[in-house]
Amino acid sequence: MAKIISIHSFRRGTGKSTLVANLATLLAQQGKRVAVVDTNFQSPTLNALFGLANPTATLNDYLWGDCPIETATHTLLVPSHHPSLYLVPAKPDVLGNINKILRKGYADNLLAIAFEKLIETLNLDVLLIDLYAGLQEETLFTINISDMLVIVLRPDAQDYQGSSVTVEVTRHFQPPPQIMLVLNELPSGFNDSEVQQEVKRIYHCDTVFTLPHADEIMNLNNNAIFVQHYPLHPITTTLINMTTHLG
Ligand SMILES: Nc1ncnc2c1ncn2[C@@H]1O[C@H](COP(=O)(O)OP(=O)(O)O)[C@@H](O)[C@H]1O
Ligand SMILES: [Mg+2]
Repeated sequence: MAKIISIHSFRRGTGKSTLVANLATLLAQQGKRVAVVDTNFQSPTLNALFGLANPTATLNDYLWGDCPIETATHTLLVPSHHPSLYLVPAKPDVLGNINKILRKGYADNLLAIAFEKLIETLNLDVLLIDLYAGLQEETLFTINISDMLVIVLRPDAQDYQGSSVTVEVTRHFQPPPQIMLVLNELPSGFNDSEVQQEVKRIYHCDTVFTLPHADEIMNLNNNAIFVQHYPLHPITTTLINMTTHLG
């Protein structure tokens, strides 16, 4: 059975896409069959992160009814030569009509149909969905069909408050998704295990990770995969630990 994992954050720019791309790469390196779907039409970044310059077909085209989901699915080659990493990229929504399309797609169940098709035709172990910020109806719907929800947050009051709403709402789903919290860009000076204990207590959640702010991540300019460039970095070790919860 494939595991569907949604990655969400209350606000934009918290590190969702970076996390998705790196976890997907590690899972593929571990021999898992993995696909990533970029639903972030506000600012799609996964194609650049994975080095896919100008994808011909995207999730937008599928939702518009212009192509089947298979045509919008691109095979990525990870250096370990596992041909088992796939990306459905998104295009920036310059005309501002994607919300309408998403809404219609949601009504017609287009996303759920696409996820099912990807899982079946690609024989996936893991399907990762990069969600956009905020809690729209479509987002809640996607979380509802996910086995796991990864929430990325930064250590500030607004993110703590927004993320607790997400946790509360999704805990009422039947069945509720497993929840993993990733506190990203922890400034130096914070004590990781103290912060983790505190977050576990606040959210009643056992699976909590912290990642420090790292210039090495920023300096990759959103066009390379950190774990491939820094396979021995402590952050890579933390990300590998995370993957043990995802398989
Ligand atoms: N731990 C980190 N340390 C430093 N920079 C980070 C870290 N995580 C993410 N970033 C940077 O923050 C920016 C936003 O990350 P991104 O993954 O695009 O966020 P989101 O998908 O949530 O909008 C990117 O430039 C990324 O390189
Ligand atoms: Mg993003």
